[in-house]
Amino acid sequence: MNYEITGSRTIFGDEVKRMREITNVLINESEKSGFEEIMIPNFEDYDLYKNHRGIDRLQMVKTIDNDGRVIVLRPDATIGITRFVSKNFPIPESPVKLFYISTIFREFKGVKKVGRDFIQGGVEFFGVPGIECEAEVIKLAISIIRNLNINNIQIGLGSAEYLSGFLSTLNLDREDEDTIMEFLEGRDLSGLIPFLESRGLSAEDIDAFIELTSMVGESKKVLPRAIELIRNEKMKSALNRLEDLSDMIREIDSKICIKLDFTLTKRFNYYTDTIFELYAGGMHVPVVSGGRYDKLAAEFGAERPAVGFGMNLSLLLDFNENNAEDIVTVAIAKGRFTDEVVRVLSEGGLDFPDYHKETRKLLFKDSENKYKLIFVKSPDVPTYVESGAADLGIVGSDILDEGDFDGYILKTTGIGKCRMSFAKLKESNIPKGSITVASKYPRIAADYLKNQGVSANLIKLNGSVELGPIVGLSDLIVDIVESGKTLKENGLEEMESFKDISSKVICNKVSFKTKQEYIEKFLELLKDI
Ligand code: PRP
Repeated sequence: MNYEITGSRTIFGDEVKRMREITNVLINESEKSGFEEIMIPNFEDYDLYKNHRGIDRLQMVKTIDNDGRVIVLRPDATIGITRFVSKNFPIPESPVKLFYISTIFREFKGVKKVGRDFIQGGVEFFGVPGIECEAEVIKLAISIIRNLNINNIQIGLGSAEYLSGFLSTLNLDREDEDTIMEFLEGRDLSGLIPFLESRGLSAEDIDAFIELTSMVGESKKVLPRAIELIRNEKMKSALNRLEDLSDMIREIDSKICIKLDFTLTKRFNYYTDTIFELYAGGMHVPVVSGGRYDKLAAEFGAERPAVGFGMNLSLLLDFNENNAEDIVTVAIAKGRFTDEVVRVLSEGGLDFPDYHKETRKLLFKDSENKYKLIFVKSPDVPTYVESGAADLGIVGSDILDEGDFDGYILKTTGIGKCRMSFAKLKESNIPKGSITVASKYPRIAADYLKNQGVSANLIKLNGSVELGPIVGLSDLIVDIVESGKTLKENGLEEMESFKDISSKVICNKVSFKTKQEYIEKFLELLKDI
């Protein structure tokens, strides 16, 4: 019997020593800055988290207490600590500066690691509304990372207040705003634009959103554009604060590269103003994430402005400087559009000399050693990009719709266009009552059927789906159709096409900022396809 639980981890030997070093640096630096340690309970009330976006209700580890109350293993530290501070330090004028090191019971993804929980170190500063609090905690985060000898630090800065100032001009309801946030978080214009159109937004408003998603980069490039988008006092003052905070961070460390990013949205919906991330050492996930949450304490009866951050120490433990590469890695779905992509890139001057149609090689570098193409199975493209094993990916929208990709969707290309359709054997009739449908895309098929009010059994297949009805495994299939040749040669006919498919360029969220220049060059090469 294998009792191991996937994603749980035992730390032993040298790893324990390294974890000690990491936590010692965190403790020393935090104490030097006047933060006091707090040890938080493992269990919290489920109701504490259920209304907070960013904490997946399904993922929380729940149990029932003796009195019937649902309790969870804490999926976040900030909310519990805020509850504690609101109760025990209700006077907002006296600052409270706390730090913690504790296990957080939430899934996370990193290169080579998918964890069910992780060790997080973090600080919560219940102080004043001014940005000096942000500057203080960012300074602390930088000094911890520097003391761990991790270089190449960059800071990403966004503003929840700027975004909510903009949204307040559109008269949308809360649910619509949340949907928009999710599209913005993924820079998914192909999803966002139709959604905005469906809500009757003007062309000017939609253009403003498009502009917003592209506003990422150094402040001299991005600020003038952010100023042009200002529609009210709220946006104006949020931008002023962001500008002042950038100046303060530069005073702390003049070498630090700061990237403004207006799609850093309220992943946790308690953030009210500044949102920040720290990237370092070529790692593909933010090493530190944090922000200002001035309204959270009010949920517990005491108003207290606050800023905090969390640092995933389990990821820091795995950090290996040698794995950090400058080269941009692009994962491409092996198959129908590989040749087309390589051709377009080489026409634009990006040449992969080792590539030819019949090759069985899976990895190619360009002549200048700046880009690397890797050919992978299409369902694996999002996995490579999300984990940071690849910076960019080119993959069909069918794969993205079927999964839960957490990254940016940067562009829809004109290659690999096809459609998602139902098909059946030519001579067959669809049975009355419940039908059986075979598909490589059970989620897409189930969503569509549910919307149509049709009940069906779904069978997941990994390929050659057309065989389903032929051998009596299913009544219908849901599959992609391009030329229709496969259906025809197997005696099937297309019944209804219900979704257009196209290929998309996707990007790792951190690479988009840390390798921005090369990623933009790559997108430019693909602009005409
Ligand atoms: C896809 C799809 C169809 C076929 C459709 O399969 O699942 O079988 O292409 O293309 P057509 O309309 O141009 O004939 P793919 O080639 O990806 O292989 P698979 O069945 O092994 O997944």
